[in-house]
Formats: sequence, structure tokens, C-alpha cells
Amino acid sequence: MSDDSNKMEQQSAVNSQPVERSAARMARRSALLLGMFALITTALLAVAESALSGRISQNAEAALLETLNAIVPANRYDNNLAQSKITLPADPRLGLSQPTEAFVATRSNRIVAFVMPITAAKGYSGPIQLLAGIYTDGTVAGVRVLEHKETPGLGDKIERRKSAWITGFDGRSLGQPDVDSWKVQKDGGKFDQLTGATITPRAVVNAVREALQFYAAEKTVLGDQYRERQTVQRTEAE
Ligand SMILES: Cc1cc2nc3c(=O)[nH]c(=O)nc-3n(C[C@H](O)[C@H](O)[C@H](O)COP(=O)(O)O)c2cc1C
Repeated sequence: MSDDSNKMEQQSAVNSQPVERSAARMARRSALLLGMFALITTALLAVAESALSGRISQNAEAALLETLNAIVPANRYDNNLAQSKITLPADPRLGLSQPTEAFVATRSNRIVAFVMPITAAKGYSGPIQLLAGIYTDGTVAGVRVLEHKETPGLGDKIERRKSAWITGFDGRSLGQPDVDSWKVQKDGGKFDQLTGATITPRAVVNAVREALQFYAAEKTVLGDQYRERQTVQRTEAE
């Protein structure tokens, strides 16, 4: 290689060094910016998600309270019903296969009613999920359907928005009518069936009767559990 071409190569290597250095600097800066952008986006998403989930849980609680108040009217209690809970055992009398939370209505710190999730296993199209409210004297405060797969126009009349059938439990108890009459009329009982759909109301009547029987046998245990929880909560708050 001639001296001239050697010099030219050296010159061009010297010239390209600042270019490479500035390219590397730009790449580092871009990577840094990208990293910061990713961090900020993740943080913003986390904030948005937590705000949203807060709103969803607020909405869910408002919806729950609306259902609870349809069962136990708000003027009958003065505690935070949606947040006053006990745990029901998995018990075939309630159709529950796992421990489930129930709600306790109190007034001036005395228990007024329990609102218990129960399941009527033998609906026409599968289990029917219900909420059953029972006042401490053993009368039904009210019953509402939470979930079911019964046929539209037939079994779905157990929903309050479809018919008033479910309100037929209000004020009933194990003596009113007597326990043997806790059946649909077609089976010799006192409860209306739905036209062309006897299986659905039969399942619901059975489930409510069993819930009342559970309550009659376990009410002391349920009350004790509630009071124990209150004591624990008070001690923790102090
Ligand atoms: C497509 C179809 C859907 C039905 N859905 C229900 C239902 O949701 N609830 C119910 O109790 N019976 C339902 N039945 C009716 C039952 O099969 C059964 O005939 C009835 O409950 C018992 O007769 P009864 O209600 O006339 O006493 C349905 C029947 C058919 C053919």
C-alpha cells in the first residue's frame, strides 16, 4: 500500500470516530427515553387500574346493598349491612358446598336479621342461587333470586322483576304455614306454583324451608359468631 492511501485511511478513521460516538450517545439516549416512557406508562396504567377497580367494587357494593335492602328495608337496621358479615358453614340445609358469607342487620347493636345466600339445588335447569333474609323471630324478611338458568317465560318468573311470586315468602315462618304445608299447592302445600312450571317453585319453596330450619337450629351459633367478630374488630381498632 502506498503512503498516500495509508494516510487517507488513517484520516477517515479519525474522522469517523466522533460520528460513531455521537451515534452511540443517541442510541443510549433513545434507550433511556424508551425505558422512561415504559416506566411512566406502566405507572399510569397501574393508577388507572386501581382507580377503576375501586369504582367497580363501589358499584358492586351499591348493587349488593340495593338487593339487601329489597330484602330487609333500610329503616329496619342502622349498621353497614353490606359490610357486616359472618361465615356460614358448607351445609346441605343451605345447599352450600363451601363456607359462604352472610350479612347481619343490626339496630342499636342488636341483631335484627340475617341475610343468607342459599342454593336450591333442584331447579328445572340447574341450581338456583338465592338470598334469603330471616328476622330474628324466624319470619322471612324476603327472598330474592341472584342467579338461575330457568326457562324464560316459565321458571324465570321467580325473578322479582318478572313477577311478584317470590314476595309470597314475606312474613312466612315455619309455623305460618305449618311445616308440612311448605310445598307448592300441586303437592298439597300453601305456595302457588307457576303456570306450566312447577319444578322451579318447588325447588325454591324447599330451599327456603330448609334455610328456616337451619336458622331455627343454628341461630345462637350465628349470633355468637357475629358478636365474636365485632369484639375482635373493636379490639383491633383500639
Ligand atoms: C322447553 C321446556 C322448558 C321448561 N322449563 C321449565 C322451567 O323453567 N321450570 C319448570 O318448572 N318447568 C319447566 N318446564 C316444564 C317441565 O318440563 C314440567 O312439565 C313441569 O314443570 C311440570 O309440570 P307442571 O308445571 O305442569 O306441573 C319446561 C318444559 C319444557 C318443554
